[in-house]
Amino acid sequence: MRRLYLFDTTLRDGEQSLGITLNVREKLEIAKQLATLGVDILEAGFPASSPGDFESVKIIGREVKGITVCGLTRCVKKDIDLCAEALKEAEDPRIHTGIAVSPIHMEKKLRLKPEQVIQKAEEAVRHAKKYLNDVEFYAEDAFRSDYDFLAKIFERVIAAGATVVNIPDTVGYATPWEFGELVSYIKTNVPNIDRVKISVHCHNDLGMATANTLAGVMAGADQVEGTINGIGERAGNTALEEVIMAMYTQKNRYGIDLAVNPREIAATSRLVSSITGVPVPSHKAIVGTNAFMHASGIHQDGILKEKQTYEIIDPEIIGVPRNQIVLSARSGRHALKHRLEELGYKPEDSQMNTLYEEFLLLADKKQEIYDEDLHVLMGTGIPEQNG
Ligand code: KIV
Ligand code: ZN
Repeated sequence: MRRLYLFDTTLRDGEQSLGITLNVREKLEIAKQLATLGVDILEAGFPASSPGDFESVKIIGREVKGITVCGLTRCVKKDIDLCAEALKEAEDPRIHTGIAVSPIHMEKKLRLKPEQVIQKAEEAVRHAKKYLNDVEFYAEDAFRSDYDFLAKIFERVIAAGATVVNIPDTVGYATPWEFGELVSYIKTNVPNIDRVKISVHCHNDLGMATANTLAGVMAGADQVEGTINGIGERAGNTALEEVIMAMYTQKNRYGIDLAVNPREIAATSRLVSSITGVPVPSHKAIVGTNAFMHASGIHQDGILKEKQTYEIIDPEIIGVPRNQIVLSARSGRHALKHRLEELGYKPEDSQMNTLYEEFLLLADKKQEIYDEDLHVLMGTGIPEQNG
């Protein structure tokens, strides 16, 4: 089994997209839950960006143990000094430094020549190494870079002491085949690449973030970066819960080992959504409210006979109570009988035709049939609540 490291950036790349800043207490609550979920690395913020971010990284580093706590910097000495200061009390600290490497970013944004960019990258990694051993280097907009140049900058930062090299698809422009090829290219063309970990960091502008991340893993990436519920800049980052469950359901096929506890996924998703105020779309893979709901009659019938006909994940594995069948006008008689029995009724087969006809009349008027409606249908009214 190959170990894959999970790098969570909900509190940095995720939070930076919100338009609001979470306070330290809120960030600490999310950080503790991420540690319970079992991510390996937690990017707690960008200390040089604001006093609040500095404080959050500091407090998370001090309070959250048993996990690598990381802070982001630019290739700027002052950023690195502040980040090292913020991480002082962390048990296992990491500095994540980097610079843009695509022609458009170097020329139009940084206004630097490629050799100057390499120099800044090397200096930043050397500077960070004065404080601690674990230094990750990100090559911003790597997917749109010249791959020979990317290989060269990685070679130089590895020589300067980087322990992880990060390949971001910053603008979510890649498709899985191309992204996999990029990771393979780096694996075969960067001297000493086997001494460091390769990380992939994908954005979701084309809806490909999870697919690209998995292509990166298949090509040999050791670490994946993402956020809970996929929150992040524009269309978001790779949703970590999707990567976790893709690996979990495909374990035997891909031979990937993760250190997470999937039962904490639903609780983590709910916490991030309630604290950030970013709702989870109902159809969102893994954590959407509809992700385990079965509405059509044919599907409900299949599920009642054998769950795996339409269910690839047992919802209890991610901490969601067993499947929910939604009764509606599309439900069949089998689903209706099953729910009535769950509610304690024992409808005779001879009663079912009439009950089903009455159920359909009601279902035509309402979107969804609730248990209360079924009690009325059975002529018992709504049972009194205890207490
Ligand atoms: O998307 C990106 O390039 C980033 C880097 C700062 C890692 O978030
Ligand atoms: Zn990003």
